Amino acid sequence: MMKLFPLFALSFIIGLSTACSKQKVSTLTNPNCTDSVYYSTQIKPMMDTYCLSCHGVGNSTAYTITDHSNTSSNATNILKAMRGELQLMPQNGPALNDSLIQQFNCWINQGKLNN
Ligand code: HEC
Repeated sequence: MMKLFPLFALSFIIGLSTACSKQKVSTLTNPNCTDSVYYSTQIKPMMDTYCLSCHGVGNSTAYTITDHSNTSSNATNILKAMRGELQLMPQNGPALNDSLIQQFNCWINQGKLNN
């Protein structure tokens, strides 16, 4: 029995880490940004789909995320919130797909263009 114990311990640890990795939010700070990211066709639709319902004009939340100007000026906190480094957004989760978070990160890295 004692000889098997490390095996049990190991499978427990593996099980635990795979369970956790499913919920893990991307913290890749330097995603591989090979493609151009477009505000008009990628970032705006992402914000409209996942954030606008609570962060539109006239909502009571502190952040208004409706256009290029307010999205770019709040971009750092938006990225942090999507990663769960501030309050996780969308509120109450689930977090966005890593690919979307990385797309937003690439948009920042590429200069937050209004393209
Ligand atoms: C269901 C409503 C809801 C949705 C959807 C939502 N938010 Fe929020 N968000 C809130 C509330 C409520 C707060 C906290 C109060 C406030 O900001 O006034 C908040 C706070 C934030 C903050 C500040 C976080 C902090 O800890 O300082 C950011 C940044 C943010 N949201 C961005 C986003 C982004 C980006 C999305 C879309 C991916 C999003 N939110 C989707 C309701 C929402």
